[in-house]
Amino acid sequence: MGRRILFLGPPGAGKGTQAKLLARALGVPHVSTGVMLRDAVAEGSELGEKAEAIMAAGDLVPDDLVIALVEERLDRADAACGYLLDGFPRNVLQAEALFRAIGGEAIETVLLLEVSEDELVARLLKRAADEGRSDDNEETIRRRLEVYQDETEPLVAYYGGSVERVYGVGLVNDVFARTMLALTN
Ligand code: AP5
Repeated sequence: MGRRILFLGPPGAGKGTQAKLLARALGVPHVSTGVMLRDAVAEGSELGEKAEAIMAAGDLVPDDLVIALVEERLDRADAACGYLLDGFPRNVLQAEALFRAIGGEAIETVLLLEVSEDELVARLLKRAADEGRSDDNEETIRRRLEVYQDETEPLVAYYGGSVERVYGVGLVNDVFARTMLALTN
């Protein structure tokens, strides 16, 4: 059985940063719904047009659109031996859809990156200045944090014993070392 790992954590926790490193180390694809949706917006596809304003407001793109996107991605050959999910599932309904899509095959480990709210906001405001992502302004960051607490945090209980907590503050490489350690638990 391949490796099926999922990253959970609030906006700015470092899911994308760590998922990229881990995907390279394990040789499995990094499947990020945020990246796929931003690509769709940049391409101006029908999905991108539907998602753009919702993402800029910090709300969740409708479940049916995101679930279809992930199902199509996980059907590709490179995901046959495992994958690393980043940003999906984002609520219990998406988690149930994932469970059905992968035919009950277990998610091996759920890595939960833990970072204080002050640090999250500081990281995202810094990225706003460096890269100009449309959802990295203070108002939208607050909304993304709220959505995380209301919609996504319940997944910690949903995945229960599969969740490994990783302290996400410090040098990227130190967080990565903790992530690798958590996978051996
Ligand atoms: P998404 O792209 O998933 O954004 P997010 O969850 O808000 O996460 P971020 O990308 O901001 O943070 P991250 O935890 O990945 O951290 P990163 O490594 O980037 O989603 C964006 C939007 O798309 C959603 O709001 C929603 O609208 C939509 N969407 C996506 N998935 C969806 C779904 N399943 N259903 C519905 N809608 C969906 O790091 C953040 C910053 O911190 C970077 O600048 C990085 O360089 C820096 N950093 C990383 N690690 C460290 C460190 N150790 N120390 C200091 N800085 C660090």
